[in-house]
Amino acid sequence: MKFFVDTAEVADIRSLVELGMVDGVTTNPSLIAKSGRKMSEVIAEICAITPGPVSAEVTATDFDGMLAEGRYLREIAPNVCVKVPLTEAGLRTCKALAEDGTLVNVTLCFSPGQAILAAKAGAAFISPFVGRLDDIGQDGMELIADIVQIYANYPQFKTEVLVASIRHPIHLIQSAKLGAHVATLPPNVIRQLLNHPLTDKGLAAFLADWKKTGQSIL
Ligand code: E4P
Repeated sequence: MKFFVDTAEVADIRSLVELGMVDGVTTNPSLIAKSGRKMSEVIAEICAITPGPVSAEVTATDFDGMLAEGRYLREIAPNVCVKVPLTEAGLRTCKALAEDGTLVNVTLCFSPGQAILAAKAGAAFISPFVGRLDDIGQDGMELIADIVQIYANYPQFKTEVLVASIRHPIHLIQSAKLGAHVATLPPNVIRQLLNHPLTDKGLAAFLADWKKTGQSIL
């Protein structure tokens, strides 16, 4: 399973790259706004830190505008993945960019039908938002199960299921059980996956006992 980091904060990405947990990065206009930085600069910096796909989202809403922005964004670095929303113009843009060999992430997916359209448009990734579905009382994981099952029926679909809007470690564990290809994780969720109080307690006890022996390994 691939781990993407869902942030535009370069310091967070850098430390997770050092940990060896970054296969790619996703950003969106809200995350760029939160970073307070110019989009083209922050995307270029992130692309230099990780060789994996770095999603940069268009903000035009019409086909011509999306295509022009997508073509601009993909020139920032070879590993830019252009992100488009799941609208009619977004699907047209996806198809046009994918035919040119550009990686496209189709975002804001909330139904299995939308995921089928994205696959037919040649998306490299489909981003179903589990947390936002949970927020309105629907089961986000049911959507992941449906898309994984549907895509598995059609080997000609090359689109990878990129679970987005992940809020906690259970979302990640459930996504992995369902066989989702990618999860994009906020940095704090990666840290939550790492930490366990029994690991800390166990290590403290081992070190206390070791100290009593008076030994040192080296
Ligand atoms: C990633 O590609 C998405 O934009 C992101 O996961 C959305 O997460 P949110 O629902 O927590 O804003």
